[in-house]
Amino acid sequence: MIKVITYGTYDLLHFGHIRLLERAKALGDYLIVGVTSDDYDKTRGKINNQQSLMERIAAVKATGLADEIIVEEYEGQKIDDIRRLGVDIFTVGSDWIGKFDYLNEFCKVVYLPRTEGVSSSEIRAEKRKLVIGIIGEGNICDKFIRETKFVNGVESRDCGPDFKDVDAVYVASHPNTHYDVIKKALNAGKHVLCESPIALSVEEYKELMALSHENGLILADAIKTAYSTAYSRLLVVAKSGRIGDIVSVDSVCTSLHGGAGEANADLASKQNSICEWGPTAVLPIFQLLGTQYKSCRITTKIINKELNYDGFTKIDFVFDKAVASAKVAKAAKAEGELIVTGTKGYIYVPAPWWKTDYFEVRFEDQSENKRYFYQLDGEGIRYEIVAFARAVESKMKNLYVEDEISEKTIGVIEEFNNHRYVEI
Ligand code: CTP
Repeated sequence: MIKVITYGTYDLLHFGHIRLLERAKALGDYLIVGVTSDDYDKTRGKINNQQSLMERIAAVKATGLADEIIVEEYEGQKIDDIRRLGVDIFTVGSDWIGKFDYLNEFCKVVYLPRTEGVSSSEIRAEKRKLVIGIIGEGNICDKFIRETKFVNGVESRDCGPDFKDVDAVYVASHPNTHYDVIKKALNAGKHVLCESPIALSVEEYKELMALSHENGLILADAIKTAYSTAYSRLLVVAKSGRIGDIVSVDSVCTSLHGGAGEANADLASKQNSICEWGPTAVLPIFQLLGTQYKSCRITTKIINKELNYDGFTKIDFVFDKAVASAKVAKAAKAEGELIVTGTKGYIYVPAPWWKTDYFEVRFEDQSENKRYFYQLDGEGIRYEIVAFARAVESKMKNLYVEDEISEKTIGVIEEFNNHRYVEI
């Protein structure tokens, strides 16, 4: 019996895939199809599959051409599979010509001509043309524009005040302007992705959320960290009980610009420390411990009273069975790490934790320590854009940053804005 194996993503299964599978099957007697997992695809730069692994497997199964379906999860798996399954022929489309010659050592390699004129990328791009208007300027907008280029079917462009020719807006202007801009955008029927905080008071936030619901539009927080793979796996590990019960979450986010001594006009155009870093710093606290804290104490060093501009702020939370602290600063520097303390061990994320591809689980007995590595593209912004585009398409908000968390975060910032803090 001649065993043939082929691999692919098979997103939105199309005629080109079916033709390939038919010819692959005809090369032998038994066809094994390796369908790539989402995580593996990410490491290969394929970030926006429309269908889940299960849906893609079901589609391949439905062709009736595969005698066996396996999941491809890691680099180097092909050699393992070929040996393990006793494969005689490895085949893929001609777009891969030469790339798999190294497998000749283990079995015969056949490149089949690719079917012209059809690909999953093209179908995705046609299905979803989302034009995002950019509101704001500076580094973060430049990064966002750069990252949209990696996402099929999403395009960014400058946005006029009337939001003409755009389906959605990305808001990265000064937080003082968010409420007005978002309200206008929602009234104009545009979806909104906004750098957190979405508003500066809970009342305004609730009003905007209600408006987005009424108009059937997505209003989502852009906190790139929330969308990164390492960060979301860290939440899972922390909640799994590996480190026991969580007793403390401590996060630090600093960037040394926007400091003391700057002219009022310069500072006024910048976000203060709590707006710039607060939403990121409190995110793991609320996502791990919930939002029902018993007390919240804000201690701050104000560097410009008129603008209520903090150079350094520490927020201390007390929960029922845990404590947490967030340190944010634009005029002070510290190690930007995240530590989740548990009764059995702790999770350590080195600086800058908010754009990490790596974390460690550490124990008293160091031999039990474990390191976790993940793919991170575009600091998470790329995944944020994919998630936003999916939310717009499905009309269902993704849950990377829960509404409750946005609201509580804004609540903390509002406390600060109302001067409910201790000054040092
Ligand atoms: N394939 C093919 N003809 C096409 C498209 C794909 O023969 N028109 C083959 C590929 O060469 C590969 C298999 O089908 O062997 C699975 O390819 P996959 O990467 O899943 O499909 P694409 O449509 O190329 O996906 P994308 O556009 O995301 O790269």
